[in-house]
Amino acid sequence: MKAYRAAILRFADDQTALYEEDGLLVVGRNSLGTWVVQAVGSYRTLGPKYPGLTVEHLPGRILAPGFVDMHIHYPQTDIIGAPADGLLPWLENYTFPAEKRFSSPAYAAEVAAFFIAELLRNGVTTALAFATSHPSSVNALFTEAQSHRMRLMTGKVLQDRNSPDGVRDETEQSLIDTEDLLQRWHGVDRLGYAITPRFAPTSSPEQLRGAGELAARYPDVWVQSHVAENLGEIAWVKELFPDARSYLEVYQDFGLLRPRAVYAHCIHFDATDRALMRDSGTVAAISPTSNLFLGSGFFDYAEADRAGFRYGLASDVGGGTSFSPFHTMRAAYYVGREGQTKAGLSLGPQQLWWQHTAGAAAALGLGGVVGNLAVGCEADFLVLNPQATPLLARKTSRARSLDELLFGCIILGDDRLVERTVISQAL
Ligand code: GUN
Ligand code: ZN
Repeated sequence: MKAYRAAILRFADDQTALYEEDGLLVVGRNSLGTWVVQAVGSYRTLGPKYPGLTVEHLPGRILAPGFVDMHIHYPQTDIIGAPADGLLPWLENYTFPAEKRFSSPAYAAEVAAFFIAELLRNGVTTALAFATSHPSSVNALFTEAQSHRMRLMTGKVLQDRNSPDGVRDETEQSLIDTEDLLQRWHGVDRLGYAITPRFAPTSSPEQLRGAGELAARYPDVWVQSHVAENLGEIAWVKELFPDARSYLEVYQDFGLLRPRAVYAHCIHFDATDRALMRDSGTVAAISPTSNLFLGSGFFDYAEADRAGFRYGLASDVGGGTSFSPFHTMRAAYYVGREGQTKAGLSLGPQQLWWQHTAGAAAALGLGGVVGNLAVGCEADFLVLNPQATPLLARKTSRARSLDELLFGCIILGDDRLVERTVISQAL
């Protein structure tokens, strides 16, 4: 066992934050050999129960759950901040040319190493990531995540039409490759496979049907794609699938809506779409920096809550502009405030933080596994330094409540706040 003494941030089942000024976090191996939280609480009451246990004392620091990024593209690391007139020109002019380069395994390995290091440096300990259409890009990312003993899900992108040479795959082979990769990697260490049709416009009906059949045959693997991000994209889907009632229903028609199916954006939905999300157990990855950068629109929190489907936060690098969960939470706050059609809805700091940790984990079907520091959770956690910059130190030292402290971190924070990232299996 190991123990850490510092302030501790975690979440209750009702999504509110629990904060221990002077806390103790005890981690130890469970019966499977995984490092998990064994006990957590105040140092005063818990400390005497562990006499003789060496305690690492971290005064002035906050222990917090590792962040969960529900949607990110590792091959887009180098195109962050590429300007374009919206989604479709951005894909054509920057994204597809960048992703072509991942036909080289050596190049993919180099980017994967940078990408995983950058996630960890920013405090992201679990991610659901897109690779490219090249199977070797998937092997490169899994191999790198495995070497860090990180919890990560990814998959080969399926795109057999409306895509240029170099990224376009072939229908039958793409499904064979998907099943091969799934069998090789899903459930190995902390890795999981995600069936990954890029989005409806770049997959033939046959490819989507094949993906749906795999999704039914392997119910505990993830499904990830994009939906209802951009108006031009939606018009294109209407042309390609004229019989579908809505963009979301294209995926429904091919068996691609289910628990552990994660759709990025979900902006331009109607009430029927939202009810379908809820009833199928499908979840949304909200990517506010991407939506602002590409001018896609605003996720409607109020309507999502009214319908009652699950969601969490995501960077969507490289449409998204930052690996930092603090940047993403900050953008989500702005969107909640200004982006609603009705009067602004103020997302509180506890709610924002929950959406990027325990809430995101629950949406991914990993509630109680990661994203929190509750007893039994895997011991992925961060050591945050609220004095990391002069302004942060000044602001957080004046906080009179937990909300003020967390808001200070969200509004002023970035990678400098994350002093250390601790990965369970690497302890
Ligand atoms: N839709 C299809 N592909 C992509 C992508 O790579 N990024 C974003 N933001 N939307 C997409
Ligand atoms: Zn995306």
